[in-house]
Amino acid sequence: MGIKIKISALAISILVISGCSNTNSQPDEEMDHSTMDMDDDMKENEHMSHDEVVSLNDSTGENELKIPSMLKPDNEEGVVYTVRAQEGKTEIFDGIETTTYGYNGTFLGPMLRLEKGETVKIRTINDLQEDTTFHWHGLEVSGEEDGGPHSVIKPGEENIIEFKVAQEASTLWFHPHPVGKTAEQVYNGLAGLIYIEDENSKSLGLPGDYGKNDFPLIFQDKTFDDKKQMNYSAAMNEDGTIGDTLLINGTLNSKLTVNKEKVRLRLLNGSNARNFTFKLNTGDSFVQIATDGGFLNEPVTLKEVTLTPSERAEIVVDFSQLNTANDLALVNEDGSVLLPFEVSDQSGMNSSIPTEMNNFSLTEEEMNLPVTKKVELFGMMDQVTINGMKFDPNRIDFTQEQGVTEVWEIYNKPDEMGGMNHPFHIHGTQFKILSRDGKEPAENERGWKDSISIKPDETVKIAVQFKHKGVYMFHCHILEHEENGMMGQVKVE
Ligand code: C2O
Ligand code: CU
Ligand code: CU
Repeated sequence: MGIKIKISALAISILVISGCSNTNSQPDEEMDHSTMDMDDDMKENEHMSHDEVVSLNDSTGENELKIPSMLKPDNEEGVVYTVRAQEGKTEIFDGIETTTYGYNGTFLGPMLRLEKGETVKIRTINDLQEDTTFHWHGLEVSGEEDGGPHSVIKPGEENIIEFKVAQEASTLWFHPHPVGKTAEQVYNGLAGLIYIEDENSKSLGLPGDYGKNDFPLIFQDKTFDDKKQMNYSAAMNEDGTIGDTLLINGTLNSKLTVNKEKVRLRLLNGSNARNFTFKLNTGDSFVQIATDGGFLNEPVTLKEVTLTPSERAEIVVDFSQLNTANDLALVNEDGSVLLPFEVSDQSGMNSSIPTEMNNFSLTEEEMNLPVTKKVELFGMMDQVTINGMKFDPNRIDFTQEQGVTEVWEIYNKPDEMGGMNHPFHIHGTQFKILSRDGKEPAENERGWKDSISIKPDETVKIAVQFKHKGVYMFHCHILEHEENGMMGQVKVE
């Protein structure tokens, strides 16, 4: 291995971003990005290669991972929940208070467990000193309930939304979406989880004991200043804010203690811009069981899984089959230690991974639909656009009929420097990937998705249907790109 890159917070502002790729470079200039030397790279290209991203510090594993609490309904009768956005102080570093944002607490939020079929009321309260919105990422609800940039809640005000949970079991999340403040508010800690459970998820026999063998893992990278504060404006990068410090569920240097059993990890890339490629340090494989919006039809065995911002994957690691004499850890592509595991002697529960989990399908009809919406992603820094335009809250870019499937073709147009990956997300729907550059999607992408990573020069076709009406955003989920206008609106009527 070459030299690992560790760069100070100061240098981060000149660093370019995760997911960039330098497709224009000559083969002889190509370097392995995990081993590239910073100085050589600087000499090679003043603007820096897009391949370079500051590495994450290894987790020392000194703190047990925090598990978000499960939000209780306000009373026994109705399914009414209260979600309050607030500011507070959190002890992320021993003995030091960091100013943070959170939902119903000082940092991050609780987990909202919903059942398919139930009607849910959520009272959303803004206790911040600034505007916010409550967006339910991945939830199929009407535009009114979706909590996009039009649904501003002023400081001190509240709003009640009501919707029926009609989609299948999945791991979704919620976060703010106010114009100009989304990236900063998420960075400061506004993010929470939604679990949807249904008859299927409860009957599959998968590990499902929350906090025991079924763990949410929210991955976020931050930059802390010398007072251990998250100074967003200082850390901010127009091309996506990247940090050297990993928090998982808000925990610094976390470790996870598990039994010798099958353990389900619900991975969420909740970072502003960083991509993660998760793997086990031993090279052992695991299975992926779910995508953003539901179970895969069958478990897919993998050695690594990549998630770009806002994507989720549920994986199962079978600790009863691993050699626990070794130090086990979840690591990133470059080997940085993300989450060391401590495996107890207990055998735990006897859960299983069924070979059939869902009935997701791509129909002949969907495969043959013509492309009726085209989206071109282009640019970097503050020059990002969709179809040559920047977001305008007063412009509707597309219209689509409720309940009608259309094929959207998304193209990531490269620039002279090669361009970069853009994680493309649509509100209010779970869609299907039809093809990537004309080819079938990978096995672990044959399931419901609401965000997809698109490489430079790649064309992805997706089948999109909206179950409800309203105005929905579609955008790049690198939050700084979204803020810089890489967002459009589709009106469903
Ligand atoms: Cu995670 Cu516009 O959404
Ligand atoms: Cu969303
Ligand atoms: Cu982008």
